[in-house]
Amino acid sequence: MNSFYVDYVSSRCYNAPAFVRDCASVMDVLAGKQIVLGVSGSIAAYKVAELARNLTLAGALVDVVMTEAAQRFVGTATFQALTGRPVLTDLWALPEDGIIGHVALGRQANLVILAPATANTLARIAAGLSDDLLTTTVLATTAPVLCVPAMNTHMYTNAATQENIATLRRRGIVVLEPEVGQLAEPMVGIGRLPSPATIEGHARAVLGSRVGPLRGRRIVITAGGTHEPIDPVRFVGNRSSGRMGFALASAARDRGAQVTLIAGPTTLPPPVAIDVVRVETALQMRDAVAAAVAYADLLIMNAAVADFRPAELSHQKIKKGADEELMLRLVRNPDILAGLADRHDFVKVGFAAETHDLEAYARTKLARKGLDMIIANEAVASIGHDDIAVTLFDAAGSEALARQPKAQAAAHILEAILQRWPARLAAISG
Ligand code: C5P
Repeated sequence: MNSFYVDYVSSRCYNAPAFVRDCASVMDVLAGKQIVLGVSGSIAAYKVAELARNLTLAGALVDVVMTEAAQRFVGTATFQALTGRPVLTDLWALPEDGIIGHVALGRQANLVILAPATANTLARIAAGLSDDLLTTTVLATTAPVLCVPAMNTHMYTNAATQENIATLRRRGIVVLEPEVGQLAEPMVGIGRLPSPATIEGHARAVLGSRVGPLRGRRIVITAGGTHEPIDPVRFVGNRSSGRMGFALASAARDRGAQVTLIAGPTTLPPPVAIDVVRVETALQMRDAVAAAVAYADLLIMNAAVADFRPAELSHQKIKKGADEELMLRLVRNPDILAGLADRHDFVKVGFAAETHDLEAYARTKLARKGLDMIIANEAVASIGHDDIAVTLFDAAGSEALARQPKAQAAAHILEAILQRWPARLAAISG
């Protein structure tokens, strides 16, 4: 466990009876991390200015290292302004205090991101060269390296580049696939730099897999609602957006967990670096959960599973006809969590979205579904909103988290779960 987590966990003061804690402090896993952002000479260099900004806003200390060619595309002043730190370009002109030596930069880093990585940079790293500050830093670092190639399609598909990428991967460097789309030149093909948000998601996953408190742990999270078909074009559903479950999945990824996200129908973009299993109905979700928990350490059932489904599925669109009424007979869906009540090989966490009597309903479900924890929230104020206020109930007591953005609430929830079951969820090295 790194010091960031130790500091945070020891500062928590969980205990019964319920209390409301000020959750204003953002607990971002990037906070305080030293990240070297190596920029090489591609037109895509301008796109990583936004990445540098977002990493900095998340609390990371971002040292931008630019190759000579990169400076022809973007000026150092751009990165310097966005990171608030000097931009490093020259192996021989390091700051006078000597703190950032050419080897020290790589040694101190928690993560090195190479974006964009050109064919030339890939080749130099694969060859083990150290002919500028960027390659020297990569050679000298023991930190994980995330490499994001961007180049012309033919340069990318060239056997030399592909062999270099294979070499880097064999050595443990994470190399992302470029995206297919419009390139800088009038041509559509593979070679585009992924979006700053995608690169950041992968950076979080790579960092988490190295230092996260849940690394090596398998976490299954369900999200969204389910759609229970009436006929080929209609369904019974609910208003769940999937936002809370997606936020939990991202927070678990950031902490190094191997996440399986089982998602009901939603228009949300899939979180980066997470296995997503798409389902539509409660029965499909039950089967997906059954398969995913086979090796799980933790299940968080956040999905708003439909309690009922139409008894009959019409294979043709139901027509209005002359009738003033349409009777729809519904039958009970299986309770997925209750069906796992006799499984004690993983920690089980449920959600209870209620409009009234939150605590009473939550405690009843905690017992009836055989859960380790249930997280209660006020349904109308939460579903479809960006913010949420939750209360965590378990056998020992309860803890209320003030209303806050779902991403932040997700981080608090995961830390709270980890704090209660450290032996079952602590990081597995290796
Ligand atoms: O009973 P209720 O639907 O209020 O319980 C909510 C919790 O149970 C949530 O964690 C939800 O994901 C889970 N659930 C389930 N199977 C159902 C309905 C809800 O696992 N059929």
